[in-house]
Amino acid sequence: MSDQGVRSWIRDARHIAVLTGAGMSAESGVPTFRDAQTGLWAQFNPQDLATEEAFRAHPQRVWDWYQFRRDLVREVQPNAGHYALAAFAQRHPGRMSLITQNVDGLHQRAGHVGAIALHGSLLQDRWLDAQQACCSVEALEDGHPPRCPVCGNLRRPAVVWFGEHLPPEALAAAEAAVQACDLMLVIGTSGVVYPAAGLALGAHQRGARVVVINPEPTELDPVADRVLRERAAQCLLSLLED
Ligand code: OAD
Repeated sequence: MSDQGVRSWIRDARHIAVLTGAGMSAESGVPTFRDAQTGLWAQFNPQDLATEEAFRAHPQRVWDWYQFRRDLVREVQPNAGHYALAAFAQRHPGRMSLITQNVDGLHQRAGHVGAIALHGSLLQDRWLDAQQACCSVEALEDGHPPRCPVCGNLRRPAVVWFGEHLPPEALAAAEAAVQACDLMLVIGTSGVVYPAAGLALGAHQRGARVVVINPEPTELDPVADRVLRERAAQCLLSLLED
């Protein structure tokens, strides 16, 4: 059931910031991280797979795990929620900023222009030792991971690992969106990972309304003006139609 009050907040908002997490893509078939049975972190230890130390110690293991996730997201499709957000942003130019923690590229594949990718992209890779400028992609030596045949520099997934800084431009754009918004929609995130979760707290502290859309309780519920205990796709479809 859509919520008339939230619909009117959306209609009246000057600027809407949207913060999405793994639950946004759950209905596309992408596993979340922390759901008890199905979440990735229920099966794998993030310290073994999502840190630079883990990659340096076991590059093939970490590379292959990301290849498995890349293959998975290439096989799925954006869901109705991704499309509803993209269509709203297109119909209302300049009124919505989308900040996503997701690395699956599904917002972008749904046609969402200007999505702020806080945690990077699963579909791209980059050099592990970025300061080494000797390498060229043409010279890549195939492998798990591919490496530079000259200096041995490794390719790594272009995602943000635990202990790493967020891409500064993405964080600055996200903070600007928080400053500008008078309504924030927090969709499909447990709200435990910072700085992303702090963006919702910041919006609340600045006086913006906060709406959480999530079938389960989250750490951000206490700052929400409204919590919609719903799954993202159907909820967004009905909230965002004009
Ligand atoms: P989590 O796995 O922590 O949380 C997923 C949330 O989605 C949970 O609150 C679920 O209840 C909710 N959920 C599940 N199905 C849903 C649906 N159909 N509609 C709406 N919500 C649904 O994922 P994130 O909060 O995104 O970071 O995790 C944040 C970060 O932690 C990730 O970006 C990743 C991870 O470690 C990095 O890899 C750096």
